[in-house]
Amino acid sequence: MDLNEWKRFLIPYEQAVEELKVKFMGIREEYIRLEEYSPIEYVTGRVKKISSILEKAQRKGIPLEEIEKKIEDIAGVRIICQFVKDIDKVVKLIRERDGKDLRIVEERDYIKNIKPSGYRSYHIIIKYPLQTIRGEKEILTEIQIRTLAMNFWATIEHSLRYKYKKDMPDYIHKRLLNAAEAAFTLDKEMSEIREEVLKAQEQFEARSNMIAEIFTNIQNLSKINEIKEAGKLYQKFWEIWEEGDIEKLEDFNRKLDILAEIYGAQRLH
Ligand code: GTP
Ligand code: MG
Repeated sequence: MDLNEWKRFLIPYEQAVEELKVKFMGIREEYIRLEEYSPIEYVTGRVKKISSILEKAQRKGIPLEEIEKKIEDIAGVRIICQFVKDIDKVVKLIRERDGKDLRIVEERDYIKNIKPSGYRSYHIIIKYPLQTIRGEKEILTEIQIRTLAMNFWATIEHSLRYKYKKDMPDYIHKRLLNAAEAAFTLDKEMSEIREEVLKAQEQFEARSNMIAEIFTNIQNLSKINEIKEAGKLYQKFWEIWEEGDIEKLEDFNRKLDILAEIYGAQRLH
């Protein structure tokens, strides 16, 4: 193939990468518009350079006519997540589209099965049906899903591997393995911190809801029965509040509920 033929060959790959980037960023946009947390942080994509395609074909003994069928990452899309859990969510979203706007060919879980290099990521190989002026064409694409920490490590490791080719000094190799371990720990630590924050947030919300309920109850009680005691109830509330005992507050709220029922019932008679 001469350069022009190569460029022609790569056009649909360029198009597929662009469309997939738009689609995955679209998922993020949807979450953001809904004011929900997005499991996708950002999306990148690239078409493999001709020199890299040739190098890979040679390394794997793939003849030129089989490149299209056998090299899966000529089109590559990368989805970056904040947390490891987000990866599962993204994988699920992609599986739900299997048979719709893409077809899953293979999944490779290098998060459960970390590579000896220390590499972690979740790979999904898909066939993406591209509409071209010559009809539909299925484009093999590799989707890599990984956290920010996994991506940081893989990017650095890749450039060092590239720089040293096969002669990576042993001490660099060892330090990369250590760095992989550190990235793994960072992912775990961040997830744990996040769980803590979510829990605290839930508790905070539960408390605010209860306090809002207490105030509504006191207000309603004072309306129903023209209770002059509303003032007393507020005072009682502040006393318990200052004690800081959440169970006592819950108990107080239950009593208000009962009072409201009794007074409400009385008013009906
Ligand atoms: P190549 O590794 O590309 O020859 O393909 P393969 O058939 O071995 O597939 P594999 O799933 O191992 O790798 C696919 C892609 O994942 C690679 O092209 C890289 O982008 C990435 N990858 C796999 N292993 C490593 C690794 O050890 N370090 C880094 N930085 N990336 C890796
Ligand atoms: Mg490989």
